[in-house]
Amino acid sequence: MNITVRLETEIDHHLVEEVTRCAFAYPDRIERGQIGCPYEHWMVHELRERDGVLELSFVAEAEGEIVGHIICSKAEVRTAEETIPVLNLGPISVLPQYQRKGVGKALITHMIDQAKHLGFGAILFFGRPEYYPQFGFKEASEFGVTDSEGYNYSSFMGMELVPGYLKPAYGGKYFESDIYNDELNREAVREFDRSFS
Ligand SMILES: CC(C)(COP(=O)(O)OP(=O)(O)OC[C@H]1O[C@@H](n2cnc3c(N)ncnc32)[C@H](O)[C@@H]1OP(=O)(O)O)[C@@H](O)C(=O)NCCC(=O)NCCS
Repeated sequence: MNITVRLETEIDHHLVEEVTRCAFAYPDRIERGQIGCPYEHWMVHELRERDGVLELSFVAEAEGEIVGHIICSKAEVRTAEETIPVLNLGPISVLPQYQRKGVGKALITHMIDQAKHLGFGAILFFGRPEYYPQFGFKEASEFGVTDSEGYNYSSFMGMELVPGYLKPAYGGKYFESDIYNDELNREAVREFDRSFS
């Protein structure tokens, strides 16, 4: 299967949200979200308005359609001395019927290359610990960074894009965009979800 990755454009927005919604629409996940629908498509929509890094919002195309998407957002590590800007990865989505065909891999490797090219220093994020190490992500504890509450666990991972970039972050706490910390606006998500089939 031939996979191409390119920058997302405004014309892609609704389709990308459809793809994101489908990727995250597994039943146990919806139940845990307790809002009766996935919410990552809403997050992608919101990130475009707030804290999303649009130069790192990519679609993957295969067989003439958009089958995957990745976006990064602004985040930071705060130490007693300074605030170090980093990237947060996600959401990343691949249509269920196209999963395990290298689409996620194509999106992530392209994003990492472009993030380096654009001069970003590091990526930190929460994700599946069984998937991301193949791209070079390590547990955030290796960089001496905890989550905002002071904890580490295997799903909290990171990567330096510039060698040594996270050295001054040692002992610091990681803060994502407020979009992740705001109380999930369930009514807004449900309302937004009504425009999807
Ligand atoms: C997670 C996701 C982005 C991965 O994308 P993908 O296109 O399916 O994965 P790839 O084909 O690029 O995977 C490359 C390799 O990673 C490994 N891999 C893929 N998915 C994996 C998973 N869920 N767990 C562990 N390893 C995985 C496999 O080794 C795979 O190679 P193989 O199929 O030859 O064995 C995609 O499955 C998805 O959208 N899932 C639903 C939404 C989601 O969970 N997003 C991420 C939240 S952290």
